[in-house]
Amino acid sequence: MPAPLQQSPWLHRFAMFTALATLILIGIGGLVTTKGVGMAVPDWPNTFGYNMFVVPFDRWIGQFGIFEEHSHRLVASFVGLLTMILAIWLWFSEPRKWVRRLGVGAFVLVVAQGVLGGLRVTEINPNLGLIHGAVAQLFLILICGIALVTSGWWHRVNVGREQGVCFGRLQGAIIAVVCLVFVQLLLGATMRHQHAGLAIWDFPLAHGQVWPATDATSVAQYNESRQALQRELHAENRLLDKAGNPVKFLATGKEIQPWHIWLQMLHRLGAVATLALAIALVVKTSRRLGQAHRFTRASYVLLAMILGQAGMGIWTLLSNKAADVATGHVVLGAVCLAFTSLMLMVAKRCAFVAGAEERLAKREFNELPNADRAALAV
Ligand code: HEM
Repeated sequence: MPAPLQQSPWLHRFAMFTALATLILIGIGGLVTTKGVGMAVPDWPNTFGYNMFVVPFDRWIGQFGIFEEHSHRLVASFVGLLTMILAIWLWFSEPRKWVRRLGVGAFVLVVAQGVLGGLRVTEINPNLGLIHGAVAQLFLILICGIALVTSGWWHRVNVGREQGVCFGRLQGAIIAVVCLVFVQLLLGATMRHQHAGLAIWDFPLAHGQVWPATDATSVAQYNESRQALQRELHAENRLLDKAGNPVKFLATGKEIQPWHIWLQMLHRLGAVATLALAIALVVKTSRRLGQAHRFTRASYVLLAMILGQAGMGIWTLLSNKAADVATGHVVLGAVCLAFTSLMLMVAKRCAFVAGAEERLAKREFNELPNADRAALAV
């Protein structure tokens, strides 16, 4: 049997720290999109002509929009630095070639992500912002994956043959949840990057209907109602904070289009499907691995997170898109996606380890002299 790899716990901790920093970065980026201030700093890679690391504090601290956008750039640079250190550390200490490659891949991705963010500003292109948002979550998955494969658990895990088969059979259900959460991310990101506020703001009905009409007259009516609600919120002092900056982003001056309504309705249906799949996963893991198994408990945690995510989505609507609630929904969405992806990696690892034991036993058996094999086969 090959000797287990000597793994540095510090490398694993560093990867975990990088993942946490990435999640914080996704949160700040989410806030930039929620507030629609992606263009608050119009130049890149400089900030108002300054090298971005030496911008005078009074140019960005406490300045609505600029603070969020500039902080996003600074935290992104920090995550880029962490990723570079992680890649170098892996390159010089990691014996597994594929893990070293993951480190290089993460570094390439973080650089590409920075350039994408910059182009979104210089090209004034919200579609690039959408891709930037989706790639951010793929990057988080990659960093979480590196943290997992450098953990002690990855090397120590020992799974019997029967459990290995169970893990193998659970993979399809986990892949389905990963895919649906990703589709939800794409639908949600497309809604957000339209910068058109909320297309529907009531729940469980939508504009008072089970499935809202999207003909021109109805959509014009929704736009009027939204304007009226916006004026009402303004009159009640619920739209702006004490400094006069917006805290709710129900409407942004851009009109609702019929396809914005379709997007949100599909996102709602996607939420129902995701919840159903998460429940199915809990049932499957409990049946196959038993209630007490840690993986089953993880599937319960996932279900709770998806429920929480649906709750945050509903709250986003009912709060008329309060900036903190909408951004919380983005962050929890990223956590759901990363967690589900980690569950998939864990299941794959367990199935592989169980299979490896079997493969090794088979090879040892085949290497035995014929007489011994015949004796064992009896
Ligand atoms: C349960 C599964 C759900 C998942 C995984 C999910 C995921 C997401 C994600 C990741 C985003 C942000 C995308 C980005 O900008 O990067 C988003 C946006 C959004 N979600 Fe969900 N969501 C779920 C359920 C819901 C529900 C039930 C509702 C409401 C009924 C909802 C309403 C919204 C809205 C309105 C946005 C756009 C918010 C904005 O413009 O800031 N979501 N969703």
